[in-house]
Amino acid sequence: MNKLIEREKITSKKEKPDPSSLGFGKYFTDYMFVMDYEEEKGWHHPRLTPYAPIMLDPSSSVFHYGQAVFEGLKAYRTEDGRVLLFRPEQNIKRLNRSCQRMSMPPLDEELVLEALTQLVELEKEWVPREKGTSLYIRPFVIATEPSLGVKASKNYTFMIVLSPVGSYYGDQLQPINIYVEDEFVRAVNGGVGNAKTSGNYAASLQAQQKANELGYDQVLWLDAIEKKYAEEVGSMNIFFVINGEVVTPALSGSILSGITRASAIELIRSWGIPVREEKISIDDIYAASARGELTEVFGTGTAAVVTPVGELNIHGRTVIVNDRQIGEISKKLYQTITDIQLGKVKDPFHWTVEV
Ligand SMILES: Cc1ncc(COP(=O)(O)O)c(C=O)c1O
Repeated sequence: MNKLIEREKITSKKEKPDPSSLGFGKYFTDYMFVMDYEEEKGWHHPRLTPYAPIMLDPSSSVFHYGQAVFEGLKAYRTEDGRVLLFRPEQNIKRLNRSCQRMSMPPLDEELVLEALTQLVELEKEWVPREKGTSLYIRPFVIATEPSLGVKASKNYTFMIVLSPVGSYYGDQLQPINIYVEDEFVRAVNGGVGNAKTSGNYAASLQAQQKANELGYDQVLWLDAIEKKYAEEVGSMNIFFVINGEVVTPALSGSILSGITRASAIELIRSWGIPVREEKISIDDIYAASARGELTEVFGTGTAAVVTPVGELNIHGRTVIVNDRQIGEISKKLYQTITDIQLGKVKDPFHWTVEV
């Protein structure tokens, strides 16, 4: 790969934040990547420039009709100081699938990987070293044509910004409490639920606020038609362990195809434990719990890798999972994925890419 990416020098670098106060998405590094699209020219002018506000016309179509897609992945610091990415090519493929669904022009996947790698390489010193920390990578595409017509924009901007982020859990994995949402829905089959497009997240906020007010951490969405089948959690896919078998909702078209989800399925199967991808009714989950067969529930996603669930509120009924303790499969999965991401163990599936 040798794609021509212009590089502008910066004159003064920012001070790095205190690693113990990183939180999520509060600090941004010195550089960003930018590339433009015009109908006649295609994608052009890839460049690494100082991180700074951008100027957009108020009539840019992204502000009005929401053509916006994004991705989220992380760069991890190994004990011996190297920097690893986890399956970045999968995020780039998903970005292009999201673009396609939102009538946005596809990106050259090799060029995006090269841009991402060059940007992280340039900002290597921003990859934090403390336990649980990482450098979050946010690629995104927005529609920039100055026009109020409801149609696909003719102009776009693709950018990548980087943000050092803290440990999701502090020192220990913590089970979370989940509210099964039966009023609002996230996505419907044939809609945009399987695209990582900004509006999906805006539409989820009201339910998230409601769950928080009721004392729950996150929402579990049900299907939009029958409000019966489990779909996914805010920014995670969901897994249930019933009678020693792992089940997760099938990719129906309305849920996001998580990269951690795919990795978890591959790993669990490699341990000889069956994983079924199917429609799962929330009443069956309740019944399995009543029979004492629901032994673990966990979410998977880039932010927290594996998140054990300690309590579910299913139509007002409380289900306590595994006595609010972290289950064996959740624990092993968390350990294995983080060990691979941090280069501590062999990477049998060749998931990591060194920067
Ligand atoms: C709605 C939604 N579901 C699932 C996930 C998990 O996906 P991944 O494992 O690729 O981070 C995310 C996070 O990107 C998400 O936003």
